[in-house]
Amino acid sequence: KLPQPFTVPLPIPPVKKPTSSDHYRVVQRKASLEILPGLKTEVLGYDGLFPGPTFDVRSGRTTVVEQVNELDVPTALHLHGGHTPAASDGWPLDLLMPAGGHHDHSGHHTMQGGDVKTGSRTHTFPNTQRAATLWYHDHRMDYTGPQVYRGLFGLHLIRDAEEDRLPLPHGDREIPLVIADRAFAEDGSFLYPAAKDRPGVESAYMEGVVADVTLVNGAPWPVHEVDAARYRLRILNAANARRYELAFDRGPAKFVQIGSDGGLLGAPVEHETLVIAPAERFDVIVDFSSYRPGDEVTVVNRLDKDAPVLRFKVARRASDDSSIPAKLSTYAAVDVPRGVVKRQWRFRRGNAGGHQGWTINGKAFDPVNMQAQVKLDQYEIWSFVTDVHHPVHVHLAPFQVLSRRGREPGPYDAGWKDTVDVQPAEVVEVLVKFTAHKGKYLIHCHNLEHEDMAMMAAFETI
Ligand code: C2O
Ligand code: CU
Repeated sequence: KLPQPFTVPLPIPPVKKPTSSDHYRVVQRKASLEILPGLKTEVLGYDGLFPGPTFDVRSGRTTVVEQVNELDVPTALHLHGGHTPAASDGWPLDLLMPAGGHHDHSGHHTMQGGDVKTGSRTHTFPNTQRAATLWYHDHRMDYTGPQVYRGLFGLHLIRDAEEDRLPLPHGDREIPLVIADRAFAEDGSFLYPAAKDRPGVESAYMEGVVADVTLVNGAPWPVHEVDAARYRLRILNAANARRYELAFDRGPAKFVQIGSDGGLLGAPVEHETLVIAPAERFDVIVDFSSYRPGDEVTVVNRLDKDAPVLRFKVARRASDDSSIPAKLSTYAAVDVPRGVVKRQWRFRRGNAGGHQGWTINGKAFDPVNMQAQVKLDQYEIWSFVTDVHHPVHVHLAPFQVLSRRGREPGPYDAGWKDTVDVQPAEVVEVLVKFTAHKGKYLIHCHNLEHEDMAMMAAFETI
């Protein structure tokens, strides 16, 4: 039995505490949580939480994170949006096997070629990048979809001096919204349509797994009390496959976007609705000051018959010394250099190693043969070509969207991006430059079912 929408309060994931300065220890473990009132759901959680704890760190300060696997499945932790050395980037075959050696043997064959560890692995994240809303999640070869679905994801916020100087809402008025859809069985357990005989999902779910319960910060259709004031919302679409077009059910609230995947925009951009594909982040300011105490403002999903997402309840009038500066950052569009290297990445349905799946440039994921060698410190133009919808993600460096179908970038393409929502039968061109870290990295579709069914390619930075 599902709860009535807007009866469960919005949880805020706890901020992760270091064990000593800049050092952290996270235990990946099962936990039984009350996600739906009155029922227990077994999750795979970082520290047993759903979502995991939020890392809140400073730009330029290296964090060292020890991951301990007390689950019964292998894992591989990735910091999405991080400028991370290859050894810490969560290469899908760099498996972390469970402590104690108890694990199910599915997917065992995929282990060759990785740096396999048992029990614990330490990741180093230099955080040498501007303030931004990043997130971390599991990236295990062939099993990212089911493992993220069951809880292995959380936020990683980087802050810096440039952003600190802005008079943005902060403290209780800065709220993360991690949106994800899930399906539940009668007994409260997660329903995930895994294929029986191979990685990926049953063929009916080839397009990706979408589900009927919308969770925000791990709570179904929650409600949150706000002051009649400005709020900063850091929105992450952590769904496996669902896209959202977020809208308010009543005016005059709007989304004033101040940042995207890679941090602050140059100047704010106003949106009536916000289209957000899996893995994208939008940093927005919403002003509740023209509502009266008692007013309710509901966020709905236009792409799903205005299905509810969450509700804000305006509780009280309050003073507000925040504002949205007309200039946010020194962000500037890069001029495309002459003679720039161009590459094309074609995302299509196809043969994924003996079964139907998804391919890049006609190939299923191959962890050994690199699809490209990319020189550091050199701009390249990459074009992403699709058959159906694919949210395309590049590891290691952010990019700027140059064009869609040969025209201007779309309304949601501003700023530095690491994931771009490529529409069906579209060509999106981006400008990318890798500035540090030589090694093997990934480009893939962030529809996690597509990813698990081989829509991933490896490139090497040299
Ligand atoms: Cu968010 Cu390669 O992933
Ligand atoms: Cu895809």
